[in-house]
Amino acid sequence: MNIPDPTSALIDLDRIPDGGFAEVEAVLDGGPESLVLYRAGNRVHAWLNVCPHAGRRLDWAPGQFLKTKDGLLVCAAHGATFEPGSGECVAGPCRGESLRAVAVRVADGTVSLA
Ligand code: FES
Repeated sequence: MNIPDPTSALIDLDRIPDGGFAEVEAVLDGGPESLVLYRAGNRVHAWLNVCPHAGRRLDWAPGQFLKTKDGLLVCAAHGATFEPGSGECVAGPCRGESLRAVAVRVADGTVSLA
């Protein structure tokens, strides 16, 4: 039987705007990490909140992310621009690199670590 681990729950799905972002803290490999969550309908993608360019956080204040009018995620430090579904940097100083994915799942309206 698969019993959900309540400590892996991150956020309620309806707290993330569709097509938007949220920031949560999670414990990964024994240490705290900030994650960027991106919601597309009922799916959520999660990335470490660490820019591949210079290792800075992507948000300009906790949970405050810049995005283009096309919905791309923009690093607040030097403007690297990421496709939020794939995590790939498509413009800026780390073009071609990628955010580091974190496996999450959505069940019963809750986003959890997978
Ligand atoms: S640290 Fe993100 S663009 Fe430089």
